Amino acid sequence: MRILGIETSCDDTGIAVVEGKGLPAQAGKTWPKFHILSNIVAPQIEVHKKYGGVYPNLAKREHQINLPIVLKEALRKAKIDPSPSLGISRRGRVDAISVTYGPGLSPCLWTGINFAKELAEQWNLPLIPVDHMEGHLLVGLFTAKRKKPLFPALVLLVSGGHTQLLLMKGIGKYQLLSETRDDAAGEAFDKTARILGLPYPGGPEIAEAAALSKTPLGITLPRPMIHSKDLDFSFSGLKTAVLYDSKKRTRKVRESKEYVRAMAKEIQQAIVDVLLAKTLKAAHLTKAKSIILGGGVSANEELRKQLEQRVKEEKLKVQLFFPKRELATDNGVMAAFAGYFTKAKRTGTLEAEPNLRLE
Ligand code: KG4
Ligand code: ZN
Repeated sequence: MRILGIETSCDDTGIAVVEGKGLPAQAGKTWPKFHILSNIVAPQIEVHKKYGGVYPNLAKREHQINLPIVLKEALRKAKIDPSPSLGISRRGRVDAISVTYGPGLSPCLWTGINFAKELAEQWNLPLIPVDHMEGHLLVGLFTAKRKKPLFPALVLLVSGGHTQLLLMKGIGKYQLLSETRDDAAGEAFDKTARILGLPYPGGPEIAEAAALSKTPLGITLPRPMIHSKDLDFSFSGLKTAVLYDSKKRTRKVRESKEYVRAMAKEIQQAIVDVLLAKTLKAAHLTKAKSIILGGGVSANEELRKQLEQRVKEEKLKVQLFFPKRELATDNGVMAAFAGYFTKAKRTGTLEAEPNLRLE
């Protein structure tokens, strides 16, 4: 089955064509396999950079401009004839279209949905609404080096809008264990980066600056809720602490490479420490046999490396699943993967759900 996946929930316009084979569990030992035929993403970093974050209406306009261009390129790469008069299901062999309908920014979601609806009608194909977070999860699972996971699996989803731990008993069987009470991990990277004068998106910028830090400045940031009994997260205190520290410094120090790099290193470590503490605690509690990472922040090298280390140190018997680095942030592949396991819907009834929850 070939699926064309469309993702526009935030500031990336992503379309991919993916071929999937096999079903989970029912077929005994078999496990689904995916072949990515094309994956085109038009990021909007340049547009949002000057504001230090994503402006929904600006993002919507960019999606409207980008979608037809990205579609054309995704079809060309996948060697699919884009002529609607031929009937794509016969000539091009795309069997369905999937589109992210939540969670995300409402105007952005609607742009993708309307585009997908029109395409599905024009090409007479089923339309499958998919959950953005399930997409991140499935990319973590199906683009990892390992093949089939053992269940139950613990899932850590870390993106610009979400930080969640889930218990997964199989594809489509998710139980939300905890989430952030305020900012998401990616948001913490983005907001603290902005305070340091680093451009948006902050995650990769902080990681890069941190790697260059040589002289520790003796800064210790809080690790919010690291010792709390529950599995919840909180990151907003980190932003306040960074702001407070930077205000204390002279302009010369605040803008120096040494300060920015040392602070970046401490910010990254604080976020990683909290994520790891809660993930490992949850892994022990749930007796998880696998840990799956997903979402933009799961591209972070330190998070991956230190999770591997801690799993070894704590002698946890879990298999680790990390998404392919270039597929950790938003893209159409995630929508296509999720579409493979989701039922189609009548196009007329499909609406955006900005607060959709994966449960
Ligand atoms: O999943 P994603 O592309 O979009 C949302 O669904 O929000 O995640 C974007 C987030 C941003 O906050 C970005 O700063 C963060 O992922 N991110 C990273 C890295 N790459 C992207 N955070 C830490 N380290 C990275 N290497
Ligand atoms: Zn995302």
